[in-house]
Amino acid sequence: MCYAIPGRVAGISGNKATIDYFGEKKTALLLDRNAKLETGNYVYAQGGVIVDVISEAEAKKTLALWEKRFFALKEKDDSLVATGTQNPKLSALFAKVRAGKPLGKDELNWLLSLRGQDADALRSFANSLRREELKNSCCVHGIIEFSNHCGMNCLYCGIRATRNMERYRMTEKELVAAAANAAKLGFRALVLQSGEDKFYSGETLVRAVQKIRRMGVLIFLSIGERDLKLYQALYDAGARAALVRFETSNPASYSRWRPGRKLEDRLRLIRELQKIGYLVSTGFLIGLPGEGEGELAENILLTRGLGTDMYSFGPYIPRNGEKEKPDLDRCLNAISVVRLVDRKAKILVTTAMETLSPEAKRLGLMAGGNSLMIDVTPEKYSRLYELYQGKYKPAKEEIAKTLALLNEIGRAPTDLGL
Ligand code: 5AD
Ligand code: SF4
Repeated sequence: MCYAIPGRVAGISGNKATIDYFGEKKTALLLDRNAKLETGNYVYAQGGVIVDVISEAEAKKTLALWEKRFFALKEKDDSLVATGTQNPKLSALFAKVRAGKPLGKDELNWLLSLRGQDADALRSFANSLRREELKNSCCVHGIIEFSNHCGMNCLYCGIRATRNMERYRMTEKELVAAAANAAKLGFRALVLQSGEDKFYSGETLVRAVQKIRRMGVLIFLSIGERDLKLYQALYDAGARAALVRFETSNPASYSRWRPGRKLEDRLRLIRELQKIGYLVSTGFLIGLPGEGEGELAENILLTRGLGTDMYSFGPYIPRNGEKEKPDLDRCLNAISVVRLVDRKAKILVTTAMETLSPEAKRLGLMAGGNSLMIDVTPEKYSRLYELYQGKYKPAKEEIAKTLALLNEIGRAPTDLGL
């Protein structure tokens, strides 16, 4: 099993390399580790970063397995793209997007509200943009939840500090072993996630990152609001991406849901991480109780304005007893609208979305999404990382199901670079 296709370095310019995948050229950033990279080398890239250099023999073996499938998948993807609408207003908006003109907030709100045939047309159009901009590559990231301790008390969250529940912390050794297992399964990008847990010293995290980095994977951190010095040290150790959602663009709502915290501090952290050089994934919750009219469109526009590298948003999954049900259509429309306002965006179909319907992964990928995440935390811990109910899914089954789905809809489980 493999979640990345090796590419051949076709040229190097500054800190960027052009990589050739079966004749398709993509660019990817070099890591310092690849300083000796030469034209003709074979590499793996994830999230637009070269994460590993491999021997020609190993590359050719993998490429031989992929070549036929790569083109077959492409054909399949092409065959599933359909555009067109009977609705003149929708048609005019599509033309506006095609002409490269920005859509206004009212237009976004209208698109987000579409249902039925119009929603289908919106999603098909977004899917065609996805194909034009990103081809049929689909990043499949693994996530390891290494501690469910959290000092924060976000009201929406199932592992918030005040909840009386079984807590765990993986040791450094367990974390590194879980990462090695994920790398063996074929993952080339791993998210290391925890609550805001000050228990781990900088040295422990730095050591773990150094060890995992050597496995040739892109390391994503999702550790919350920690000291910038720690983020810098982890970057220096080899982490290259960070997941920090801003949750809501409404400052009052933000402080209500995340007591003691301010939106402006969260946004500052995102900008500082970008300055350090991290690829940043950010986004928001859809359908938080009290979400204002137009707030979803504002969340999308704020994400775009931050100029981050990946969108990560999903429905708020209510706790027991709450009546409001999250609306999958709204989430799918959000994916499509993001694709329209930010055509080259990497858009994650999040695991929370998948709890709304067994079809959500497929629908999200057919609505303009191009990335997925699979939980590869050891089972005994994953069950306890219950951000929301229904989150736990056995890893092996999920991997098999995901690969079957990607095969069916013509997506290559890889990331071909920026
Ligand atoms: N429903 C959906 N997502 C949630 N998160 C936390 N609680 C919930 C919930 N009830 C998300 C937050 C956070 C991420 C780690 O998990 O958006 O950023
Ligand atoms: Fe902690 Fe994150 Fe949950 Fe907030 S959302 S309580 S920071 S784990």
